[in-house]
Amino acid sequence: MTNHLKGKTALLTGATGGIGGAVAEALAAQGVRLLLTGRSGEKLEALKSRLPGSGHVPIVADLASADGRNSLRQRAEAEGGIDLLINNAGVSKLALLQDMDDASLEQMIATNLTVPMLLCRDLLPLLSSRPGATIVNIGSILGSIGYAGSTAYCGSKFGLRGFTEALRRELADTGIRVIYFAPRATNTPINCERVTALNHALGTAVDAPELVAQSLVRTLGRRGQRNRYLGWPESFFVRLNSLFPRLVDGALGKQLPTIRRFASGGFGDDSSMKSSSGGH
Ligand SMILES: NC(=O)c1ccc[n+]([C@@H]2O[C@H](COP(=O)([O-])OP(=O)(O)OC[C@H]3O[C@@H](n4cnc5c(N)ncnc54)[C@H](OP(=O)(O)O)[C@@H]3O)[C@@H](O)[C@H]2O)c1
Repeated sequence: MTNHLKGKTALLTGATGGIGGAVAEALAAQGVRLLLTGRSGEKLEALKSRLPGSGHVPIVADLASADGRNSLRQRAEAEGGIDLLINNAGVSKLALLQDMDDASLEQMIATNLTVPMLLCRDLLPLLSSRPGATIVNIGSILGSIGYAGSTAYCGSKFGLRGFTEALRRELADTGIRVIYFAPRATNTPINCERVTALNHALGTAVDAPELVAQSLVRTLGRRGQRNRYLGWPESFFVRLNSLFPRLVDGALGKQLPTIRRFASGGFGDDSSMKSSSGGH
């Protein structure tokens, strides 16, 4: 199979995270040059140093700020443009809605939904000039299945899925490919101890970031593929939920007491929700 990724330039957000790091390694191994972004310069440099290939560019940017997004766009332009935009940066929080404070809820919608929208808008001019350009929005199985304890997160990922579908249709006459890629639970820092304990209590399968990265590379290689939902039975439940949601109500209803037990008590040990200063 020809490696159509070789020699391409990809802008990867959330590169300093669990899935981002694995995706960076998998794409670099395919000969992709990466523009890597996150808020930690140290983590970006460490990632760059372990990637195969050369010419990778670390770009420190807080995507929640207009200045951060502008510096990213300007740098991507200065680096000669991009063929691939991967909106991967994200935050999550396990909490009942009654315990969710404004700032955390707004941060989740901003990071997981508004930022990908703004970056797609701002980088479209760069992508439009490249044959075979592609946008990948990293969603989640929880972007298709409403889940107790993840109301705001689900809201953000359902929104991202709808945005991705609409963007694909809006760009249908441009040749720009738009992919919605939905991992299931994956072993990364976005999942705090309580989430890990909840997944264990429910017997939820948890993937390694490397598996998610390899699935993304395969999806990019399958020309016609538009959406990709990872894992069984999660991908089956995605379809079932769209056809017979009451059946899924029943299945998930049994999990509610356990979810309540782990989700209640609100906040405290969630690792992924960091303020722009990087501290808790
Ligand atoms: N892990 C899972 O179970 C799972 C399942 C389904 C979908 N996903 C999705 O996969 C994607 C990657 O998540 P992950 O599991 O790899 O999480 P992670 O390890 O916590 O990484 C999150 C990344 O997002 C970046 N980020 C967060 N807020 C940012 C901001 N304001 N500006 C710039 N960068 C920001 C972080 O960068 P810094 O820390 O350097 O700022 C980090 O690189 C997310 O969209 C997530 O929703 C994850």
